[in-house]
Amino acid sequence: MRHVQQLGAGHPRKIILDCDPGHDDAVAIALAAGSPAIELLSVTTVAGNQTVEKTTRNACVMCTLLGLSNTPVVAGCSGPLVRALRTASEFSGASGLDGPPPVEPTVVPAAGHAVDWIVDSVMADPGEITLVATGPLTNVAMALRKEPAIAQAVREVVIMGGAYSRGNVTPAAEFNIYVDPEAARAVFEAPWRLTMMGLDLTHQATFGCDEERRLEEIGSPIARFMIELMRYFRDAYRAAAGLEDPPVHDPCAVAYVIDPTLFEVASAHVEVETSGTWTSGMTVTDFGPARPGVRRVDVGIKLDREGFWELVLSAVERAGRSKAGSLGSNHSPARA
Ligand code: BDR
Ligand code: CA
Repeated sequence: MRHVQQLGAGHPRKIILDCDPGHDDAVAIALAAGSPAIELLSVTTVAGNQTVEKTTRNACVMCTLLGLSNTPVVAGCSGPLVRALRTASEFSGASGLDGPPPVEPTVVPAAGHAVDWIVDSVMADPGEITLVATGPLTNVAMALRKEPAIAQAVREVVIMGGAYSRGNVTPAAEFNIYVDPEAARAVFEAPWRLTMMGLDLTHQATFGCDEERRLEEIGSPIARFMIELMRYFRDAYRAAAGLEDPPVHDPCAVAYVIDPTLFEVASAHVEVETSGTWTSGMTVTDFGPARPGVRRVDVGIKLDREGFWELVLSAVERAGRSKAGSLGSNHSPARA
């Protein structure tokens, strides 16, 4: 078992998790909640896997299950900047979190809008907050437009989105970028430190039998909830994408903040295609030499899969031991 050295070392990293739960977003929330290396300031939501009403409710469900009663869940944009919303119900179902029996959240959304929340939090704590975005980049782009100075005030931005060798909605485009390419373009053009965890990286984060067995051993209510989430996700991925084991994309972005040594990244110039007939939403990636005046971002290339799952599963284990990790009485245990 790999020893994850950065856990708990030094001050926890403050993050805002902007997401669209979503099965893999739910795992990202659990990782952030259960890691001593992270201080989860708030969960902001956006339309993506499902409508923003549903993704917000799902974020509240996860915060309820994880005992995050003091972590604000703040709803954000209900659709992309200029396009109609396209959801991913083929992977996440009608609720956006299909699989486990429904949970009635006791956490309710905070007042206000995610865009204001992001701007106000980042500007109030310059240099300290990392923005982790695991859904379409609508809220992040709107925050930039409202207060461009967040680009200097944020510590860094890590996104799950894009790819350099493939797509998943189209042959060229990954879902989060495809849904709102105009927003993504604004985020890639902003003068901040940006890391892109795209499909080339996240397809290494597959959930297999060993990970399911480990969740069964943990056996807590949150672990059982995750088993049911992942079984649904696996079946959906088999049916919709023909993959044996599902790639669990979104926690890769959180894991990178916790322990970057689990990742190999490379510097690249990335442009987001917004007008191509066949390529809209593509992240066109050039790993060639840097050129003066051309912005570079870090791109995830290689994942230490074993270390990644150790990080995620130990966070789930920790969350299950906390005072919370409880489920409503309508929750039945996972199938054996
Ligand atoms: C991304 O799309 C969403 O459906 C997932 O939650 C993930 O953020 C993968 O392409
Ligand atoms: Ca997502």
